[in-house]
Amino acid sequence: MPTSDIGLDKTLAALGVAQPDQVAPLFAKIQEHFAAQFSLVHDESDWKIFRDRWLGRKSGVLAQVTDNWLKPAPPELKRAVGAALNELRAQVEARVEERRLAIEAGADETSLARERVDLSLPGVIRPIGSRHLIRQVFQEIEDIFFSIGFSVVEGPEIETPYYNFEALNIPEFHPVRDDMDTFYLELPKGAPEPLLLRTHTSPMQIRTMEKRQPPVRVIVPGKVYRRDNPDATHSFIFHQVEGLAVDTDITFCDFTGTIEYFVEQFFGPGVKTRFRPSYFPFTEPSVEFDVSCIFCGGSGAAASGGSCSKCKGAGWIELFGAGMVDPAVYGFVNYDAKKVSGFAFGMGIDRLAMLKYGVDDMQVFFQNDVRFLRQFP
Ligand code: PHE
Repeated sequence: MPTSDIGLDKTLAALGVAQPDQVAPLFAKIQEHFAAQFSLVHDESDWKIFRDRWLGRKSGVLAQVTDNWLKPAPPELKRAVGAALNELRAQVEARVEERRLAIEAGADETSLARERVDLSLPGVIRPIGSRHLIRQVFQEIEDIFFSIGFSVVEGPEIETPYYNFEALNIPEFHPVRDDMDTFYLELPKGAPEPLLLRTHTSPMQIRTMEKRQPPVRVIVPGKVYRRDNPDATHSFIFHQVEGLAVDTDITFCDFTGTIEYFVEQFFGPGVKTRFRPSYFPFTEPSVEFDVSCIFCGGSGAAASGGSCSKCKGAGWIELFGAGMVDPAVYGFVNYDAKKVSGFAFGMGIDRLAMLKYGVDDMQVFFQNDVRFLRQFP
């Protein structure tokens, strides 16, 4: 309903209004328009257009009434027009303001509704993950040794040949280096000494004895690196726990007793141990520890008949190397070889984990496949 058909652009005279009682119907028509337009105002932009159309200073409806009707009105009409205009203005202003408040409140309400935090909604559940099986086995081993007075030390994965070999009584051209002469770092020219990724955790025997006086009882969990081709039982990265106990009165019996205690705690009662002579330059005598096969109970026979595939019918599984610390090693750390004695061992953790948890391919430890990891929560 356009406001132009009310005749706002004409004077009262042009509209044929000459009597005061003709004024009221004119204003009634304007009210009608106002009511019709008012009902169409729903949001802030509608409201602005509406306000300007009615209250705009130059061409708003009220301004036009003032300019075209009131100002040129003859004296006998002025009073009636003025009064009607005042009433109209009061109404228009009040309702325009009232609508503004209503729109604002509505907008507040929608934004409140949008921003409201619903504390009863369930949260976003993120999977927490779990510790890797190797880490769990480290922990089991650490707990067992804690219970008999050992503490944990850790050392660098990048070592010098001195700690990895020489101080462990492995001189430069000793044949046992063949297995271990592996990952050397490419260093800038003029570097003071070569560096390699440690091939065992044994260097920490030396580093520990350099720093501490006996009694020493430590275990060393960590990663080691060797030039092995990956297969079901080999990897160029694997994990060891080194053990070292040195004191004034440590005997071979303490050594075997400690190992037996560990094996029983780790694999459970009923698992037997045995040791066979072996050779390491830093232990004398050196032994290789075996456990009775945990799959066939040491019988060497498979439940389904034939021989056990895990121990190949032997009834024993080779577990780790160990021995009494070679007195020559004490010479490298200023211990008095006449006063102290001790034992050391180095266990392959991947192997222990595979045996205990029935994992038959070592590679799964390094692949980080969640289908594997999830089995050990
Ligand atoms: N360091 C040896 C290895 O990695 C294991 C070992 C440790 C043997 C301590 C004897 C004493 O094979």
